[in-house]
Amino acid sequence: MSLLTHPNARELTKSVRATVLVFKDPRSQELLSRIERLAPSEANTLIIGETGTGKELVARHIHQLSRRGREPFVAVNCGAFAESLVESELFGHEKGAFTGATNAKAGWFEAANGGTLFLDEIGDLPLNMQVKLLRVLQEREVVRLGSRTPVPINVRLVAATNVNLADAVVAGNFREDLFYRLHVATIRLPPLRERPGDILPLAEFFVEEHCQRLGYSRASLSPESERKLLAHSWPGNIRELENAIHHALLVCRQQVVQPGDLHLVDMRPMGVRVEEHALPLRLPAAPPDLEAALTALFEQNIPELYEHIEETVFRTAYRFCHGNQLQTGRLLNISRNIVRARLEKIGELRRSDAAQI
Ligand SMILES: Nc1ncnc2c1ncn2[C@@H]1O[C@H](COP(=O)(O)OP(=O)(O)OP(=O)(O)O)[C@@H](O)[C@H]1O
Ligand SMILES: [Mg+2]
Repeated sequence: MSLLTHPNARELTKSVRATVLVFKDPRSQELLSRIERLAPSEANTLIIGETGTGKELVARHIHQLSRRGREPFVAVNCGAFAESLVESELFGHEKGAFTGATNAKAGWFEAANGGTLFLDEIGDLPLNMQVKLLRVLQEREVVRLGSRTPVPINVRLVAATNVNLADAVVAGNFREDLFYRLHVATIRLPPLRERPGDILPLAEFFVEEHCQRLGYSRASLSPESERKLLAHSWPGNIRELENAIHHALLVCRQQVVQPGDLHLVDMRPMGVRVEEHALPLRLPAAPPDLEAALTALFEQNIPELYEHIEETVFRTAYRFCHGNQLQTGRLLNISRNIVRARLEKIGELRRSDAAQI
């Protein structure tokens, strides 16, 4: 099975729009079966993946497939609130708990009671909130700000992160005990470039979906466009693909998307990029001992250092070529006339020899 339809996903979804999950690549299919096995368990789940890989979509899917499917699904972005507000947002507050708390309010945990709480960007949770979250998970009750009465809660937690939480633990930005509590069940969503078999099925899915939205009868991708989609690295993953298709449909002619309609930006550094075009010629980096030798010279504070280095280059090359000016010129990729002039200047070549070779 590779296409799944949520029965009432349209009402549920806000930031996530797809009601269908496309999982065609063998890696994705394997992942899907893991998600399906994990979903009915009550285990807290951590979803790890780059931006736009579908973390929220998968969180909703887990919820749908669990026994909690008819109960609320509450999605909260931990990075979206000022530090001072996170606590009352998560755990709620009583009337008068702080200036401006004119009414009592239930927090997200209570709102999700019976269902699933999705904590997105969990790595952004301030450290003092991490302590409180851990306590809630252990004791299965929340205490609203300004109250002393604990409220029992029955919530399954699904958290997501696009940063490596293990690194955050090492750096002291994430509590190790909370990390292990969340790490019980983990789902790693691979970036789109590592599941190329999903690219075209997703592209076709978005073409169809956006055609409906835009009121077009239908549109298609030219074979060259398909090749371009397959060759791209997708740093923004599925969201980037969806945006690229949306834009292409707006600008394409006769409802056929051509490569020129697809605006794809590759943000990876030069050198690691595999392009449709040949890589530009690049000089290799200087070998480490050359750099070390130069550094040693810089430390000696030698007068006219640059001239000295240039002389050394010419002299060494000339000797390496057994005194042959033509070959020296080829080795250094400069003209023989220049070689001769330099050799003369540094006294490596007597004037009488200058006419030779
Ligand atoms: N397997 C999929 N099939 C169809 N659509 C998908 C799939 N995965 C993701 N999408 C779509 O791609 C977009 C990005 O997905 P989602 O918001 O879940 O990603 P995310 O990992 O939470 O991203 P971010 O890290 O930026 O929050 C959404 O519009 C979603 O509907
Ligand atoms: Mg998200």
